[in-house]
Amino acid sequence: AAFGSGLAQAQNYPTKTITMIVPFAAGGPTDTVARLVAQSMGTTLKQQIIIENVGGAGGTIGAARAAKAAPDGYTLFLHHIGQSTAPALYRKLPYNAIDSFEPIGLITDVPMTVVARGNFPAKDMKELITYVKANKDKVTYAHAGLGSASHLCGMLLQTAMGVELTTVPYKGTGPAMNDLLGGQVDFMCDQTTNTTSQIKSGKIKAYGVTTKTVVPSLPNLPTLASGALPGFEVGVWHGLYAPKGTPKPVVDALANALRASLRDPNVVKRFNDLGTEPVPTNQATPEALRTHLKQQIDLWGPIIKKAGAFAD
Ligand code: MLT
Repeated sequence: AAFGSGLAQAQNYPTKTITMIVPFAAGGPTDTVARLVAQSMGTTLKQQIIIENVGGAGGTIGAARAAKAAPDGYTLFLHHIGQSTAPALYRKLPYNAIDSFEPIGLITDVPMTVVARGNFPAKDMKELITYVKANKDKVTYAHAGLGSASHLCGMLLQTAMGVELTTVPYKGTGPAMNDLLGGQVDFMCDQTTNTTSQIKSGKIKAYGVTTKTVVPSLPNLPTLASGALPGFEVGVWHGLYAPKGTPKPVVDALANALRASLRDPNVVKRFNDLGTEPVPTNQATPEALRTHLKQQIDLWGPIIKKAGAFAD
């Protein structure tokens, strides 16, 4: 009976509102991606998908919450590269980055930008590095906690500059951006999904992008790799997950809805306007996400261990 009802439940899925956990504060880049995808998936699934922002500890609080949720398809979890760096950054996590989840699919790989408060005294990345090194005890760097992409990029920047800065943690780079706009913090490395509009408003300064090639929506922003920081590259890939044990028919329905959202013209346009694009739909699959997550955990582990000095 139990099996039967489980199967029937899965076949009629979804029959009620779905929650999508975002492990950072509202208004930040992860939240932006989640709301776009959730809106479109909800249309396909004919059920509302509501966002629950569960911030803290660089995304690991939200991950732990999602890992413990009932595996019935009514709690989803959207996270980025931080799912693969947390295992190296935290000695003890109350979940396993791979085994506590059912992967649904990859979503998008978002470029990052080095940005500073509007009156920061550097006109380009080379001057920023010179200034930061000369003022390393004064300059402050904003991020969204150990495990966030902004923290990871900051760690790589500090390693590249050979400095260890005072870093200011936030529950997300949405709140961090408010302080950057107010001049309360000096600079940060954050995703184009959060920085594009502020860069275009001229209220913050932008110094470069962390991608191999220039970002079409920010044509005047050079790549860090082509100038001040040869080889510097970090992209913030995003994936959608459900708790381990979510029935396969439910996972399949969610993966289909995710792929439809990545073909949704509104989602594609908003992603493009914000400096990114959906992954090819053959990457929005459980297998592609599982493979990528494992490869990224293996990639970042040693890098983080080596740079460990800068991990808070
Ligand atoms: C991060 O730094 O990982 C994210 O930008 C945080 C966020 O989405 O707010």
